[in-house]
Amino acid sequence: MRTLIACYSYTGNTMVIAQRISETIDADLTRIQPLKDRWYMIKAIHAYLEKKWPIQDCITDLSEYDCLLLCCPVWAGRAPPGVNQYLSELKNVKGKKLVVMVTMGGNGNQGATDQIKTALEVQGMEFVKKLIINGNDQKSGEWVAKVDEFQDLFRE
Ligand SMILES: Cc1cc2nc3c(=O)[nH]c(=O)nc-3n(C[C@H](O)[C@H](O)[C@H](O)COP(=O)(O)O)c2cc1C
Repeated sequence: MRTLIACYSYTGNTMVIAQRISETIDADLTRIQPLKDRWYMIKAIHAYLEKKWPIQDCITDLSEYDCLLLCCPVWAGRAPPGVNQYLSELKNVKGKKLVVMVTMGGNGNQGATDQIKTALEVQGMEFVKKLIINGNDQKSGEWVAKVDEFQDLFRE
């Protein structure tokens, strides 16, 4: 299964995990990067309102891939605005598999994964699985075992 990993990470937590997966399963990794940074409150409000921010060029064409692994942090219970823009720029997604990995500081809120799943199912992608790495997983190091188990999915 040829997988593209698309990762947005503001403070680096999500990128550490995305890079580990990319090296283990030998997948291409493309970085989602908004054109400009905004204040914390603007980040949270725009995420909550499901806004889109312009992003730098990155891989958006899935024609060479069987699967997209979308990785991002949870902001205000939602996906970050740069990720919303990325989802709208994706091409040749129909029939491709979708896997989502999010990191978050707190616990329990899964709104962001549902948001990404819905946006891409509408475009014809097949949602396969999600992985949520919460604040406790990050602090305790438990994320390593969770991610290693999760990676088996891409070895089909
Ligand atoms: C603007 C903003 C909003 C956030 N909102 C939430 C939230 O609603 N729930 C939560 O658990 N963590 C929230 N966080 C914490 C991040 O999801 C968490 O620290 C994540 O691991 C950061 O990933 P990154 O280092 O890849 O950017 C928020 C962080 C930021 C900057």
